[in-house]
Amino acid sequence: MQGTDHTMESQTLEIADLTCRFGAHRALDAVSLSVGAGEFVSILGPSGCGKSTLLRSIAGLEAVEGGTIRIGGQSVDGLRPRDRGVAFVFQSYALYPHMSCAENIAAPLRMSELGPLGRLPLLWRLSGRMRRTRESIADRVGATARQLQIEPLLGRRPAALSGGQRQRVALGRALIREPALFLLDEPLANLDAALRNRTRTDLRALQRRIGATTLFVTHDQTEAMAISDRIAVMFDGRIHQVGTPDEIYRDPETLAIARFFSQPHLNVVPAATLRRHIGGATAAGDIRIGGAALEGMAGVVAFRPEDASIRTARRPGLPGLPCTVDHAEHAGHDANLFVRLADGETAVVRIRSHEIADWPQGAEGVLHFDLDAARRFDAPQGEAETPSRAREVA
Ligand SMILES: Nc1ncnc2c1ncn2[C@@H]1O[C@H](COP(=O)(O)OP(=O)(O)OP(=O)(O)O)[C@@H](O)[C@H]1O
Ligand SMILES: [Mg+2]
Repeated sequence: MQGTDHTMESQTLEIADLTCRFGAHRALDAVSLSVGAGEFVSILGPSGCGKSTLLRSIAGLEAVEGGTIRIGGQSVDGLRPRDRGVAFVFQSYALYPHMSCAENIAAPLRMSELGPLGRLPLLWRLSGRMRRTRESIADRVGATARQLQIEPLLGRRPAALSGGQRQRVALGRALIREPALFLLDEPLANLDAALRNRTRTDLRALQRRIGATTLFVTHDQTEAMAISDRIAVMFDGRIHQVGTPDEIYRDPETLAIARFFSQPHLNVVPAATLRRHIGGATAAGDIRIGGAALEGMAGVVAFRPEDASIRTARRPGLPGLPCTVDHAEHAGHDANLFVRLADGETAVVRIRSHEIADWPQGAEGVLHFDLDAARRFDAPQGEAETPSRAREVA
């Protein structure tokens, strides 16, 4: 990273059958994942699903029970953390409070490149070699700070920085080692919404510029979709699906993933209910959902509020479900209209917020939804016979 921007040599990452256990609890259960050189992959999943454990295992900070990790084609199993060529920004990043930002960023290089004597005040002046090393470190701190746009802050201590500025210093401290692999554990979690959006854009631009292979942990699906080349969705210690943001958003493999990518609401209606109440098709037997015939379909059908619409009367030839308006929730430009279907189930329809007045409680309408965007899933256990509900996903 000397002088101007520097492209580091990016490395591939291959994880196979990684298993990690805490007592009886399997935090990682046969996790496999391949990340290409220079690729930005997000690990997305709810709290406690094992995201941090996965990153810590790759970094060598967690003892794994089984499986292999290869970085740049070389096995790192058994290597010490510092020998893995990996830089880690922790979920609760900590800067040294008594050091300036410049010293914080330089800390990993001072540890690895200067001996104990070189770190002592003044003594290093006696040695030309140590002086040159210190100058080279100072150059690299300057270059890293330029990339992160924190040059004016270098002389300050962490206490005199905003959360977002501290976050960048922590990123700088990881970047300066020119890692083959960058592991970021919710590095934006402490930022407010506006700063978080800005920092994530900057982070992705920086990652593209330097080309470092990156694993980025988040539990925010919007964030993952915004910045990732691919997303690995994790639940309960297992990776359930890996794909581009578009692939996972359009074709979630399970209902749990569909719910995770449809916050706050996903409509889930038993296929049998649809068959009973859907009307208006030229020939009901011809209705296809997500490309498959509704006729004889088992399980549930899920569709997003934004793929649904409500009209006062049935559109000729289009299948729709009779419904009654319950209430509306304002969401800025749009609103969520909660309606009741014929069997008493709730569904949510996205409308424009200026249309709320058109849909008072008790109004009757017909709900249409995009049959191609809807997906069929196996019924969740214990829910097959119960009426569907539009779910709040925490
Ligand atoms: N050192 C430990 N000892 C025992 N159990 C642990 C330890 N570390 C993690 N766990 C457990 O392993 C599971 C996975 O934890 P992990 O920290 O990887 O989750 P996470 O996905 O990063 O969650 P979050 O989004 O809340 O950070 C959790 O159930 C957690 O309680
Ligand atoms: Mg975590």
